[in-house]
Amino acid sequence: MRHLESPCIDVTGDVWHSPGRCRVVETSRSTRNRSGVVMVRNPSTGIVRQRWIVPLWRRTEPRSRNRMTVVDWTQESNHFDPEYAADPISIWRHLRPACPVARSEKFRGMWVPTRYEDIEASARDTGTFSSRSPVVAEFGAMSDFGLEVPPISSDPPYHTAFRRMLLPFFSPGRIKQLEPFVEQLADRLIDGFAGATGCDGARDYAQHIPVQVIATVLGIPPDDGDRFRVWVHDMLEVAPTDVNVAIATLLDFSGYLQEHVERRRVEPSDDIVTFLLGAEFEGRPLTDPEIFGGCLLLLVAGIDTMWSAIGATLWHLASHPEQRKRLRDEPDLWPTAIEEFLRAFSPVTMAREVTQDTELGGCPMKGGDPLLLPFPAANRDPDAFDHPDEVILDRALNRHFAIGVGIHRCLGSNLARMELDTAVRRFLDRIPDSTLADAEAVMWSVGQVRGPRVLPLDFGT
Ligand code: HEM
Repeated sequence: MRHLESPCIDVTGDVWHSPGRCRVVETSRSTRNRSGVVMVRNPSTGIVRQRWIVPLWRRTEPRSRNRMTVVDWTQESNHFDPEYAADPISIWRHLRPACPVARSEKFRGMWVPTRYEDIEASARDTGTFSSRSPVVAEFGAMSDFGLEVPPISSDPPYHTAFRRMLLPFFSPGRIKQLEPFVEQLADRLIDGFAGATGCDGARDYAQHIPVQVIATVLGIPPDDGDRFRVWVHDMLEVAPTDVNVAIATLLDFSGYLQEHVERRRVEPSDDIVTFLLGAEFEGRPLTDPEIFGGCLLLLVAGIDTMWSAIGATLWHLASHPEQRKRLRDEPDLWPTAIEEFLRAFSPVTMAREVTQDTELGGCPMKGGDPLLLPFPAANRDPDAFDHPDEVILDRALNRHFAIGVGIHRCLGSNLARMELDTAVRRFLDRIPDSTLADAEAVMWSVGQVRGPRVLPLDFGT
């Protein structure tokens, strides 16, 4: 028995107790295929609740994000590089004519299209580009881990049925009911700093809204918000380049969710977890990994995406007083403005796994290759949008891919639009003259979800 105390995991066949959680973590290894299995058991029943296959791979020294520097973006594409985090738009602008489908050996030969038409073609062709690995990790394909987060990690026909089951929770009517809650939440947060001369728009405001909203939808205690934020951050910004963090975060997160699911078994409520526990899917109840994976997806999909979209919009408006004024004077602009903010500052990049040898944008690809789908790059393609780098509040034709394209189009899009509209509108109503306090201090996230994580604002008071 050992204690799992830090995100440092040695997959060598031990049994560990993780602190503070009633579960046993077992690992075993197979030297033949260089993989190990991490299992989470309920200690009282002995039932295996979760099981992941992990590669036997250990780092020997800590990695620093700042050490990465890409020299050739056509061959070494890296969405974790600080240069990409600071300004991906210039990189896509350079790549489109030079090498419209870039590559990266660092991420197991990952392909990176940057043109609207290539991104749309691959997102729509679910037979050739599978969703079984929607996140690209340096050390292995998500599908090899046995981790599923349906429906985003599945293909038809399973995907179609799972998505259909969740749809009622995100209908326009149901989301409308949440609007007063989001308004009150926004007001409460603003009350907390309105008397000050400024705030951090990312940390004091944008990040709190989605956490509270999604906790309410899932029926999870909103007070646990700080823990979700740490897990979601680790999962999206650290885990894809660090297998130890990936395993530790999954174990911790799954332990938390497992406790919550067990609670809902005995204390049902009007929330998604309770619904999933009683749901009938293709004539059978959902399995524990399906319930866990579905909840994990909703937490991850609903938090950093929204945090990023709200933060990036506040960042833009802080340096565009004329647009703030227009939005105040012409409130009818809000619906097109929200679409434009989503297009211009799309936070979400997804990924696919090539299922068979194929070709995209003239590049030959092999079955098993990872493909990054930078929807934000498509949204800045001059062949698809006039003046793509301008934010045009009344842009009439706006077929953007911020919320995806094809069968995986965002299930939470009604919620996303309502949260973005409400959060930004309330902020502007209450603090109309906020500007960037220090443009140099703004920090953007790395990885597949992009948004400001530090955003110092000055209220001009
Ligand atoms: C501004 C905020 C958001 C953005 C930009 C966004 C973006 C996206 C994108 C691009 C996809 C497509 C994935 C793919 O093609 O593989 C997606 C799917 C999804 N999103 Fe969102 N999302 C946002 C907010 C939310 C929220 C608040 C929820 C609710 C919890 C949510 C739940 C989902 C789910 C469940 C899917 C998977 C749908 C499927 O596979 O059929 N998203 N989202």
